[in-house]
Amino acid sequence: MASLGVNIDHIANVRQARRSVEPDPVTYALLAELGGADGITVHLREDRRHIQDRDVELLRATVRSRLNLEMAATAEMEAIALRLRPDMVTLVPERREEVTTEGGLDVTGQQATLRGLVGRLQEAGIGVSLFVDADPTQLEACQASGARWVELHTGRYADAPWPDQEAELTRLTEGTALARSLGLRVNAGHGLTYQNVEPVAAIPAIEELNIGHTIVARALAVGLEQAVRQMKVLVQNPRRDPLFGSGPL
Ligand code: PXP
Repeated sequence: MASLGVNIDHIANVRQARRSVEPDPVTYALLAELGGADGITVHLREDRRHIQDRDVELLRATVRSRLNLEMAATAEMEAIALRLRPDMVTLVPERREEVTTEGGLDVTGQQATLRGLVGRLQEAGIGVSLFVDADPTQLEACQASGARWVELHTGRYADAPWPDQEAELTRLTEGTALARSLGLRVNAGHGLTYQNVEPVAAIPAIEELNIGHTIVARALAVGLEQAVRQMKVLVQNPRRDPLFGSGPL
């Protein structure tokens, strides 16, 4: 059964729209935990467009589940991670002009750099996950980097037109099996919604789904605690073959 990591970047996006103090992602992390979040995820971007340094510091002190820090593989972010010691660091590619993280990391292209960084973070007791496409070459490079986790990018599945969704789901299922055979533990996320999450949650070896935008969007209607509760039902009791039938909850 997969656990649910809730990404609260979009709470910070609303705050930053006014450079205000509300809504405070730290408060909403607590509400997400009350709704059953197994972990809280934030992406501290180089341009600080949503999550701020102060948020990560306060979250480190207050999150009672697990704190997963998404970050680029830079010296600045490494120093922050080593100081704050989140439970997990997920390394993601980052481009200033993108609206959100668009593709997986090119691990093959930066193996030497990543191996050093992964080693230093793991030595400090921080779990390290690499956000990659479900691509055999990338997964083999992840193993060579020494990381123990990968997060499979589910964006292609989420964005696929209906006739292609099944093929994308197969890619994720096969990617998960390959990663496991390489000794890697597997998370997944990006673009998952209340409508499309169940087939991914039903892939047995996936340990955690990281989900943000759809939960924060639903929270506008029902509140964050309830929105997390509703997502957790789908993640923990997915229908095996809802491709892609009646809507959820
Ligand atoms: N996983 C990673 C690595 C991400 O970068 C993001 C987006 O910040 C997510 C999961 C969550 O994606 P979404 O907001 O589309 O649910």
